[in-house]
Amino acid sequence: MARSRLIAGNWKMHKTVGEAEALARGLVALGEPADQVLLCPPFTALARVGELLRGQPGFFRGAQNMHWEGAGAFTGEICPGMLAELGCAFVILGHSERRHIFRETDAEINRKVGAALGAGLAPVLCVGETQEEREAGRAQGVVGGQLRAGLAGAAAAEAARLVLAYEPVWAIGSGLAAGPGDAQGMAAFLRGELVQLWGREAADEVRILYGGSVTPDNIETFLAEGDVDGALVGGASLDAGNFGRMYRRK
Ligand code: 13P
Repeated sequence: MARSRLIAGNWKMHKTVGEAEALARGLVALGEPADQVLLCPPFTALARVGELLRGQPGFFRGAQNMHWEGAGAFTGEICPGMLAELGCAFVILGHSERRHIFRETDAEINRKVGAALGAGLAPVLCVGETQEEREAGRAQGVVGGQLRAGLAGAAAAEAARLVLAYEPVWAIGSGLAAGPGDAQGMAAFLRGELVQLWGREAADEVRILYGGSVTPDNIETFLAEGDVDGALVGGASLDAGNFGRMYRRK
């Protein structure tokens, strides 16, 4: 089954509502994308960006995080139903900044994956090793462990909705992107793990993105790899001209 390409922009903690509006308008002005394009603004800008994208085919919105509970006394948190209500289709889960700065655990991320699927959201589950883990020869072990823990309890029937993002921690925001061969190697390893979990047919439905210092100049080298189905872009997604160069337009 052919997997459709997904080019995602993680805006992180950037863009006021006014700035987000300008960025979304700039992207819409470039025309309809041929790839699926996912915009992940901060929570505060999700609604406004949604208004601007209404009736614009090819564009989707996602959040950058959420809580796993449906409601309750969780000050400062956002639940899956709140994102679904805003028309979000995706939610990034387990981003390395959540894992490392906010100490999110695999068990918490797993609960979030289950909650996202239960609320009709497509999880973008992020995995990736640190420089230290890579140098110790543990990259596949770490990433495979994050994958299995994150997906525990999820069913093969969810495969078509699941997106994985391989983001080596050392490549994020560093300007030191992984080599395309390394990205392909890890994407193929992840797909192999999915085959073991869910079987070949389901594994072939899961989209796997590469993230970490992706730019308009290097994105094609990643997209040329057979198991890399798109990119999760941070810094280079914050400017309409740059981001617009990273996906195909009709
Ligand atoms: P950069 O593209 O800025 O390296 O960020 C990658 C990332 O963390 C996307 O989620």
